This record gives sequence, C-alpha cells and structure tokens, in this order.
Amino acid sequence: MVGYKSKVAEQIHLPSRTKRERALEEAGYNVFNLDSADVFVDLLTDSGTGAMSDEQWAALFRGDEAYAGSRSFGELEDAVADVMGFSHVVPAHQGRGAENVLYGTLVEEGDVVPNNTHFDTTRAHIANQGADPVDCPVDDARDPDADGPFKGNTSLERARTVVEEYGPERVPVVVQTITNNSAAGQPVSVENTRAVREFADEIGATFVIDACRFAENAYFVTEREAEFADASVADVAREQLGLADAVVMSGKKDGLANAGGFVATGSDALYESCKQRAILYEGFPTYGGMAGRDIAAMAVGLREAVDEAYVTDRVGQVQELADALESVGVPIYTPAGGHAVYLDAGAFLPHLEPEAFPGQALVCELYREGGVRGVELGSFAFPETDRPELVRLALPRRTYHREHLEHVAETAAAVLERREDVSGLEIVDEPEMAEIRHFTATLEPTDSS
Ligand code: F0G
Repeated sequence: MVGYKSKVAEQIHLPSRTKRERALEEAGYNVFNLDSADVFVDLLTDSGTGAMSDEQWAALFRGDEAYAGSRSFGELEDAVADVMGFSHVVPAHQGRGAENVLYGTLVEEGDVVPNNTHFDTTRAHIANQGADPVDCPVDDARDPDADGPFKGNTSLERARTVVEEYGPERVPVVVQTITNNSAAGQPVSVENTRAVREFADEIGATFVIDACRFAENAYFVTEREAEFADASVADVAREQLGLADAVVMSGKKDGLANAGGFVATGSDALYESCKQRAILYEGFPTYGGMAGRDIAAMAVGLREAVDEAYVTDRVGQVQELADALESVGVPIYTPAGGHAVYLDAGAFLPHLEPEAFPGQALVCELYREGGVRGVELGSFAFPETDRPELVRLALPRRTYHREHLEHVAETAAAVLERREDVSGLEIVDEPEMAEIRHFTATLEPTDSS
C-alpha cells in the first residue's frame, strides 16, 4: 500500500459555462490554445506535468550548474547505468531533442524506419530527415474492443514486409515504443522485444527503444507475461531495455521530471556521433540543454519510476479512471493503457464521420461540459493513417485525486447523455507540416456555417 500526502497545494477552479464556451471559441476549438487557468482537470498530457517527490525537490537544490563536468550529470549517468543498463548518456532538453540527436545521426534521406507505432514527434523527426516512418502495429492494436495483454507489440510480419519492399540497406534503424503511446498506451512484451532484436540483427539495423514509459511497460510485463511473474519491475526494465542498442528518452514521462530527456547507449561509436550532433543542437554533452538542477531531479526520478509501490499506484490510478468511465457507460479502448485512458470517440459519437473529427468534437465537449482537457489522437492528429478515433485522457503522475477522477467520469457521462446534439468540426486554418497540425490548427463546428 502506498499513498501520497501533499506538501504544496495549487488551487484550481472550474470557470463558468459561459466562460468555457467563450474560451473554446477563442481557442479555435483547439484545446492546445486554452489558458491552463481556464482548465479544471488537465489531462492533456502526462508529459512534464506530474508532481515531483520531496527527494526530487531536494535534488534540485543540490544541482550543479557547471557548464562542463557537472556533478549532476554524473548522477544521471549512474542512474541510467543502474536503472537502464547503459554506459553512455547524451542529455537533451526533452524527448524530441533526443530524437533529433539520435535520428539525425542514424537516418538519411530515402531510408525507411519501422516502429510499432510512431509517436507524432518521432514521425516528424524521421520525416524531417527525408525518410519514411512506417507503423507496424499488431492487428488488434486498432481494435478498441479486442482483449489482449500486449496490444502494443510490433508486428514482425509487417516489419518484414517493409524490408522486402525496400531492401535492408534502406532500413538502418528499427524502433520500438514502450509503452505504445499512439496505440492507446498499450504495453509491449519482452518476448516481442526479443523478436525485434533478432529481426534487427538479421537485417543489420540499429535497434532503438523509445523508452518514455519503460517503467509502466515493465509493470505490465510483471503482471501479464508468465516468465516475469516473480520478477521485479526494475529487473524487467533492465532486461527489456538491455535488448536495444540505444534508447531515446523523454524524462518528462518515466523520468518523473518536468523537463529533460536523453539518448543512452552502450555503443562507443554511436555515443561519439550523438555527442557531436548534441553539441550542435542541445549543448555541451554534460548538460545538453538542461539546467544541472533538472538533470539532478531527473536522475532521482528515474530511480523512483521503477519503485514497485510507485508504479503499482500509478498504473492502478489509470485503471481506476477506466473503471469509473466504464461504470457510467462511456466507451473506452480496452484494456486501459499505462498512462492514460483512451476514449473510443467513434463509438461515443457514431453519427460523426472521420472527416468531421469525432475525437476532436469529443475533446471540445469534455471541456465545455466540465473544464476537462484531453487530447485527440485520431484523424485530426494523424491525417492519412488508418486508426481508431481516440481521445486520450492522460493522468499526470502523482497529481490528481479520486474526486478529480469522479469529476471526469461525471463530465463524460453528461456529454454521453446529449451526444446526438454534438456537431462535427472542420479545419479553418492549418500549418504546412501535416504531422504536427493538431497543435496549432484552428477549427469550427460544421453546423455554424
Ligand atoms: N516519444 C513518445 C512515445 C512520446 O510520447 C513523446 C512525447 C515523445 C517521444 C517526445 O518527448 O515531449 O519530451 O519531446 N509525448 C508527449 C505526450 C508530448 O503528450 O504524449 P518530449
């Protein structure tokens, strides 16, 4: 049994319905444009939004801000070696900075990069190199109702098809994302990671794990993979990550930090080339775009993330939200993910075609109804890919309490009640780069024109 007591309190409030209506309109029906002060329960992301522990706050004070050779960097190296098993670390300001460093080093124009499912920034970084990111999820991943312990797995069959089509020389990197954020936060089994390792060896590719949520993934492995029933979360994490040549990490997730990221590897050669690129884009390799204090807090957070009591509570809270939503009849993707519950917007708003962005319409209604902010991960965020219409409600770590979860469930139930009246949306204005349009595009209801 584990719990938390608060040392710092932040007041939040629910603006009036009129204020919410106006805020939504002013935001162009894109909740990324809302002021956080106008949001009551903010489930936009679990990235950098959690509460740090007292130990992390203490580490902040001890942070060493030296430009080179910072003691805090040494603490990060030790934590990465102990928790993940890699001898080299290249820090970056956050996960996408690390993606730029790593994929900028490994990927060239004309390459093809398979991944179980690319997260949006991963997809964009690979496309930015002039390469083609290809998703290789298992069939069940796209079925919100299918039951399965590891719906986040990579389909080796799909990955092989990619290699047959383009030739191994065009596939220098194979990526696996654990947990699989763009596939409803579903976990990946160690057995599947081992198979991807073998596949990468067969084609002579570098195997990269996107380790953002490695601890939540390891927790699911201990619960669902027979071989690891008696293993600790920490042991599974090392075993699984140890299969990769390198990991790309956002410390804002399972680093339990508000900022930061890194590339870690056991390869001296890869470390050297990443370091050079990091100097160009991130900073000297012992700080990499981070303050020393943030590195120190992330080093402590990495260790806390594999603490059995912490991660059991963490994944348990997500399950609690899933149960609360299901108990009021809200259709959700099952099983629940490790960091978020994904609503099945296609089933929630069956009268809206994908072109009317049912997921985004639902996101707007949750805000309008209860000041709850989630994020669309369907045809608005991922144009031209065939995927279910999902809305992600991501729980920041150690932040919200049961009454907040209840408020979210009541809000969703109230929208469900009047769902026939929810209108679709159309895009009014969007940026050039389609992969990241959902951050800034503006929309309007289809029935307003
Ligand atoms: N990879 C995955 C699987 C992610 O989920 C994210 C970020 C990144 C890479 C990039 O990391 O944000 O530190 O630059 N995901 C956040 C989210 C933004 O809301 O899911 P970052």
